[in-house]
Amino acid sequence: MAKLDALFSAAKAIQEKAYAPYSRFKVGAAIATPSGQIFSGCNVENAAYPVGTCAEAGAIAAMVAAGENRIAAIVVMGEGEHLVTPCGGCRQRIREFAQPQTPIHVAGPEGIRKSFTLDELLPFSFGPDNLADR
Ligand code: THU
Repeated sequence: MAKLDALFSAAKAIQEKAYAPYSRFKVGAAIATPSGQIFSGCNVENAAYPVGTCAEAGAIAAMVAAGENRIAAIVVMGEGEHLVTPCGGCRQRIREFAQPQTPIHVAGPEGIRKSFTLDELLPFSFGPDNLADR
């Protein structure tokens, strides 16, 4: 699938840009929006460790800065043999801009390793609708 290939390539390219001198664990994330645009981000660590940011947060910030606010699909690319699924905080960040069935593709350098829906990774989630209910 051409679109997924482009998303995979964007995640791989931005992963190399990661600033991860402390964990030495580089992550790249690439978001496709319904309009077909791609936004990517990498993790940016800090000497004050908790201040570091995840790749997904960077990709979301780039998307919002460009005036878009819907995630059609996302690829997250980490290092090592394990599945680098988005951390808990990033699942919630993705939730803000995605739908339950939005695909989250977890990749390694060789390709997509496993695909999930947002609802699989963050079931019974809290989101904007909860606040609209009041
Ligand atoms: N990291 C991400 O960028 N995204 C994730 O979903 C998992 C973890 C980063 C944060 C930190 O810079 C490094 O990976 C090690 O935890």
